[in-house]
Amino acid sequence: MSDRSEFYTSRTIASWDEVAPRHEKINSTLVCDVSNHKYNNLNPDFNDLIDKYGVHNKSVVQICCNNGIDLLSIKNKGAGQCLGIDGSEAFIKQAVKLAKIAGQNDIEFCCSDIYKLPDRFLSSFDLAVITVGVLGWMPDIQRFMEVCSSLLMPGGTLLMEELHPILGMYEEGNPPSIDYSYFNSEPFKDTNGLDYFTFEKYDAKENYSFHHSLTDILMSAISSNLQLDHVNELKYNIGNYCADLEFAHNNPPLGINLAWSKIA
Ligand SMILES: C[S@@+](CC[C@H](N)C(=O)[O-])C[C@H]1O[C@@H](n2cnc3c(N)ncnc32)[C@H](O)[C@@H]1O
Repeated sequence: MSDRSEFYTSRTIASWDEVAPRHEKINSTLVCDVSNHKYNNLNPDFNDLIDKYGVHNKSVVQICCNNGIDLLSIKNKGAGQCLGIDGSEAFIKQAVKLAKIAGQNDIEFCCSDIYKLPDRFLSSFDLAVITVGVLGWMPDIQRFMEVCSSLLMPGGTLLMEELHPILGMYEEGNPPSIDYSYFNSEPFKDTNGLDYFTFEKYDAKENYSFHHSLTDILMSAISSNLQLDHVNELKYNIGNYCADLEFAHNNPPLGINLAWSKIA
């Protein structure tokens, strides 16, 4: 891992650890929700995409799984062995707790910076999953896609649901404004914290996020042995970033779903 990546990811992960108790308090009903064995937190189009590829008995890894509720949803759909990876120890603890409440004992969780994963997970999974809010934390998109690909067995599938890259041009507000170049590659420094549920301000640690264009994402995948199988741009809010744009007359896409297969 380069010193540059280490600088950013260590701060980002500390920031997620810091907000974890706040998110846990805000999401207090989860302890009840996940005890329903049909619990499903997935967005509708991503849920359909997962069904299209099928999960039954498949080994699944979720990259940057946060509190594990999306992985739990996939497990509830009949997945086999599951692994959730996240750099935040505090969120991994929440994930372990929620999976236990759900009675899903065969979901493993690993706390690791995605750029420093142990070799034991290499080429182990039928399916790798990324749900909304991950790419923006990655200082090195090329290396990130290589890691995603390395987790898959040949012929395996990577499914991704993300904020649409065009949202990188917008600043939140009422209404959101176009303030940035689509081609901006400078890190965004933020000290407002990560309470994106209630937007409560607190004396937060700094974190850094990154804009990756569609070209960056697609070209990184191509050079990581991933073949694009599916793409769908979404009209509706999936990540609560500039959510009001869904109802704007000149509405941009808000989300994007992508599927790749690992070339054997
Ligand atoms: C917005 S959350 C992802 C939420 C996801 N949609 C879910 O609920 O499963 C982003 C997550 O990425 C994790 N993360 C950010 N940078 C990371 C890194 N370099 N390695 C591992 N995890 C990282 C954070 O700890 C956080 O839990």
